[in-house]
Amino acid sequence: MSNTSQSQGQTLTAQSQTELKHLGLFSELKIKEITLRNRIAVSPMCQYNSIDGLASDWHLVHLGSRAIGGAALVITEAAAVEPIGRICPDDLGIWSDEHIAPLKKITTFIESFGAVPGIQIAHAGRKASTRNPWRDGGSRHEKQNVPENEGGWQPVGPSALPFSENSSTPRELSIAEIEAIQDKFAQAAERAYKAGFKWLEVHAAHGYLLHSFYSPLSNKRTDKYGGSLENRMRNALETIDKVRKVWPKNLPLTVRISASDWVEGGWSVEDSVILAAELKKRGVDLIDCSSAFVRAGDRYQYGPGWQVPLAKTVKEKAEIMTGAVGMITEAQQADQIIRNGEADLVFLAREFIRDPYWPYHAAQELLGKAEAKQILPINYSYSI
Ligand SMILES: Cc1cc2nc3c(=O)[nH]c(=O)nc-3n(C[C@H](O)[C@H](O)[C@H](O)COP(=O)(O)O)c2cc1C
Repeated sequence: MSNTSQSQGQTLTAQSQTELKHLGLFSELKIKEITLRNRIAVSPMCQYNSIDGLASDWHLVHLGSRAIGGAALVITEAAAVEPIGRICPDDLGIWSDEHIAPLKKITTFIESFGAVPGIQIAHAGRKASTRNPWRDGGSRHEKQNVPENEGGWQPVGPSALPFSENSSTPRELSIAEIEAIQDKFAQAAERAYKAGFKWLEVHAAHGYLLHSFYSPLSNKRTDKYGGSLENRMRNALETIDKVRKVWPKNLPLTVRISASDWVEGGWSVEDSVILAAELKKRGVDLIDCSSAFVRAGDRYQYGPGWQVPLAKTVKEKAEIMTGAVGMITEAQQADQIIRNGEADLVFLAREFIRDPYWPYHAAQELLGKAEAKQILPINYSYSI
């Protein structure tokens, strides 16, 4: 962040500071009974640091330090709704009541620093049972599978089509199995509430189970869960219906989608508008608009804010709140996204690894140091 804009921030009049605060990145966002202190969310990030899906002190420190740093919303990594729904065996899980207590410690800590604790519940589908990238090497998207004799398992999916040439071929789920996984999402939501989470995000992006059903690239079924757009969306919508029944009405329910496969013949942003409108009818409050990763080998046009137009289109056309994510790294950039009405929230992932105090530093840059200290009381007597 530049010193120039920081000093500009310091010279703002009280009136313009108020305007900046009320319209931009540091304005509050109220959804149901939850008020976010600003528009900055910690995007879910797998930590590959769980044993049997249990949260550890690693998670407390990782998530807790971002709450201290000033994020309004701190969302856990994908927490698997059943063991074979983990992307890799070291992922977080929420498939049993034993997972609740260690998560409760984390939600209590996050709330004590003024942030809202959120959880992403997930099933990895055909992209499950892959190697831990920091321990075993390899890219997250290469998806080398852990063999069954080393603690891995055969993944499941809409069709017996592997994610990549190197991936295991998934077993096609029966209708009874699809319904059973939907129930597991609902049970996970109930546990999430007991663990103290106030914000629920259902993971339906990045080629994992729910996305692999709605994308025509991975779903070749001929029953009521395949073929037409309506049939391919069915699993996501039925899952949300079941989750909605158990997740408290007064708390935000959100969904992360891959708003485009960026591939001719794949899922498109127009399809996302239809899906988002259906989700809205079912009581979803906000769509977190990511994209891509349904198939290995596809290439994407990465760049600063590359997925923001998806959030804007879904917001405008489906008339639902959205989150923007992907290469949002600068305070001014994030502020403009909110100010221009392109999205209601910004989700940052890797930038939060680089700087857990990103919100505080962004406030210093946009509003000046004194105001930053006012709105984000960080308990340091020296300058950071
Ligand atoms: C280490 C790592 C783990 C991630 N794990 C998840 C995850 O559990 N769930 C998810 O939806 N996205 C996950 N993502 C994607 C991020 O949430 C985010 O969408 C992506 O990194 C783009 O944002 P960025 O440019 O700010 O990093 C992960 C990203 C990273 C770098």
